[in-house]
Amino acid sequence: MIRETAEGNFFLVDQSDHTELSGQFAAHWGNDKFERLRPYDSMVFGTGHHDDGYREWERLPPINSEKGRPAGLGEPLGYPGQLDCYVRNIDWVRSRDPYAGLIVSMHRTGLWQERYETVTSSTRAYIGAKAPNPEVPAIIERLEAGQKEDRNALGNGDAKFEGELWTNYRILQLYDLLSIYFCCEGWTDGSLIEHFIGPIPMSYETKDEATFNITPLDGGILKIDPFPFDLSPLKVMVRGREMAPMVGASDEEIREAYHKAPRQLLEFTFVE
Ligand SMILES: [Fe+2]
Repeated sequence: MIRETAEGNFFLVDQSDHTELSGQFAAHWGNDKFERLRPYDSMVFGTGHHDDGYREWERLPPINSEKGRPAGLGEPLGYPGQLDCYVRNIDWVRSRDPYAGLIVSMHRTGLWQERYETVTSSTRAYIGAKAPNPEVPAIIERLEAGQKEDRNALGNGDAKFEGELWTNYRILQLYDLLSIYFCCEGWTDGSLIEHFIGPIPMSYETKDEATFNITPLDGGILKIDPFPFDLSPLKVMVRGREMAPMVGASDEEIREAYHKAPRQLLEFTFVE
């Protein structure tokens, strides 16, 4: 994920680091207003690997020559087998934890279908939606058929299981969108902007929902209302790297600069 800095450089966060940040939100979810995740381990594991299909290409990233940098989210990669990488990641997560694999598979098919219209946000909620790749409908069909089998195997048609699964799907959308906000979408002229994401379930037992308003204060501190985490203040971190645009350079030169760019750890603190 890429954003422009106030100095005209690019700040890049690998998809695997975006994913890892999402997992930090899952780990700390829940307090007296928001119910803790269940199953906790599966949800934290799935969230923390939900986009790891990208690992197959992003350490040798395809280049956007026009911009003189690696290709960003939603830009054409020209990478053969990109869709298979997503499926392989789902298969891997599922092999470690079937519930996590199911939720990651639902997340993937949801990205192609406007997150099943469960959530909106003040930036783009539907990144990756409606990909024009003609292979996508068949992959959706295959993955959704697998989800049905997994739901039967894990929940045996139990309505409570189904309800909680969709609650978890919707909560995962918040973790993803909140991470996308920090990694690229939430920035204008080098500063984080006000933002909302919702509605998101607050509990497995009730129909209570919350829309989160995020207000940046000074020094990487953000107010999030309502406050959904188990620690206040809550500090989270994400790794990234800054690069100057290299228009006119070869793909190899741009990749070398990407490899060599010093890593930075960005720190953000949520307060009530
Ligand atoms: Fe994601």
